[in-house]
Amino acid sequence: MLNLDVLIDEQTIYKRIDELAKQIEKDYENEELVCICILKGSFPFIWELGKRIHKNNISFEFMEISSYGSSFETSGKINVKKDVSCDLTGKNILVIEDIIDTGTTLSYLTDYLKAKNPKSLKIATLLNKPSRRLIDIYVDYIGFSIEDKFVLGFGLDLDQNYRNLPYIAYVKN
Ligand code: IMP
Ligand code: MG
Repeated sequence: MLNLDVLIDEQTIYKRIDELAKQIEKDYENEELVCICILKGSFPFIWELGKRIHKNNISFEFMEISSYGSSFETSGKINVKKDVSCDLTGKNILVIEDIIDTGTTLSYLTDYLKAKNPKSLKIATLLNKPSRRLIDIYVDYIGFSIEDKFVLGFGLDLDQNYRNLPYIAYVKN
């Protein structure tokens, strides 16, 4: 059994997502927006964020990226398992991520999406681990920056488990 403790509770998560949603709503006022959920970890975040963004011209797409690495980190070898189902040319894209760790996944993904010629490309992540960054990436919307701890819950997994925890937990040593 893993020894888990709560790092960020549900109410704190929702309060922060409220703030991000308000900011995004303002930034994309009068603009069409395509949010891309990076499966699997971003599903709770995109739902909680999306329902707080009050606009009609917002759509949702889903991508799945596989990275071959250990349970705890990515190896840098990444490929697109599932792509978006629409033409992104001239669209405002907002990538919705669960966590940015080394930045490897996102750096690959932003290059991949830029090649589809969007009008704009921004990134929203629920969690950020700045101390682990190997590739420098500008992140437009950050829920929480956290220390170098392995976290679970609210979509984040360890070997596909724990995604359904309603809060963010960390593994105690
Ligand atoms: P990066 O490519 O190193 O930025 O890693 C991003 C991916 O690694 C995330 O989308 C997660 O799938 C995984 N990851 C990184 N840190 C954690 C963590 O603390 N808990 C669960 N998954 C993590
Ligand atoms: Mg994962």
